[in-house]
Amino acid sequence: MEWKSTNTKLPVADQKRLDALRERLDQDAVFELGYPVAFDINHARLAPFLNYNINNIGDPFQRGHYRLNTHEFEREVLEFFAQAARAPADDWWGYVTNGSTEGNLYGLYLARESLPNGIVYFSQDSHYSVRKNLHFLNMRHIMIRSQPHGEIDYEDLRESIKIRRDAQPIVFANVGTTMKEARDNVGIIRSILDELAIEQSYLHSDAALCGAYCAYLEPRPSWDFADGADSISISGHKFLGAPVPCGIALARRRNVERIAHAVAYIGTVDTTVTGSRNGLSPLMLWHTIRSLGKAGLRERVEHALQMAAYTETTFRQVGIDAWRNPQALTVVFPSPAQSVCTKWQLASNEGISHVICMPHVTRAQIDKLRDDIVVAAGKNK
Ligand SMILES: Cc1ncc(COP(=O)(O)O)c(C=O)c1O
Repeated sequence: MEWKSTNTKLPVADQKRLDALRERLDQDAVFELGYPVAFDINHARLAPFLNYNINNIGDPFQRGHYRLNTHEFEREVLEFFAQAARAPADDWWGYVTNGSTEGNLYGLYLARESLPNGIVYFSQDSHYSVRKNLHFLNMRHIMIRSQPHGEIDYEDLRESIKIRRDAQPIVFANVGTTMKEARDNVGIIRSILDELAIEQSYLHSDAALCGAYCAYLEPRPSWDFADGADSISISGHKFLGAPVPCGIALARRRNVERIAHAVAYIGTVDTTVTGSRNGLSPLMLWHTIRSLGKAGLRERVEHALQMAAYTETTFRQVGIDAWRNPQALTVVFPSPAQSVCTKWQLASNEGISHVICMPHVTRAQIDKLRDDIVVAAGKNK
């Protein structure tokens, strides 16, 4: 028996629209410095897989009825990141998500199921989706102050937990805040919980950006399972360069077993947020880790760090008050003129903007942005 997909016909005018879209995307990619998305990985090798209805429905570690999936590749991706995040060998589980909003929702869901009366503590600098997730899950929560460079204020966290000792703490740590790439220290948070002799707690590490490269930084940031996290979320379309939004959720297996239940329709257990799941994104992530390997990922982050250092220096040389957190790819500076933000797709919040030096970013782009900022500032004087 043979199966073939049908070649669809497209009106000429519509083909032209697709061509025009490609041209626009090529242009817009050159003038994009504000978001943590990497463009340097070519996934054309995977194009033939667009002709299959791949769906990773169900648990990636179980066999279900539907076989057009990439579970085998998904498991390899998960194993790679579980190792990088020093997950306990016999007590971890994970799946490839649609991004870190979902990975964070998953971590908070597991936390709520294990500590139903818990209170979530998260910092002012957390991603905007955290509040939405807490609203979905109807969880009690308290916002903690951030330090000026974006890291959580540990004293405020300690005091807030101390005065509510009757409720189990669920701490949501940012390992790379959205605007300043500040990293909350998971080890310090764990030691606060230990100092206060808290018996039951949960710690989620939102490593949307940095989880892809923390393992390759020296000194190693405190962010993973060995440092005290119970679950971790990493984005796949950020540093890892997947061309579609995706991510990796990792958690302690015993917490996942609490929420798993068998579903006859799919012939497997339901352990994920969505039912149908993208089967192409695990393949893209697998393609990235297999083609780059740990050495390639390490090289990419070293190159990106050098570009971030260059950006900070060259901006400062022309009087732009730029700064960055230690070992960060994100360079923060006062928001330039709106025309510059629009041209370069710069995210701005409370008077600051940033450039995120993803591995594809070139000196030519940084120099052009620097000059645009200076020229626009001169015009506005
Ligand atoms: C710290 C942090 N957490 C979560 C997210 C949400 O990730 P996603 O866009 O993959 O859903 C982001 C996105 O920028 C982020 O910076």
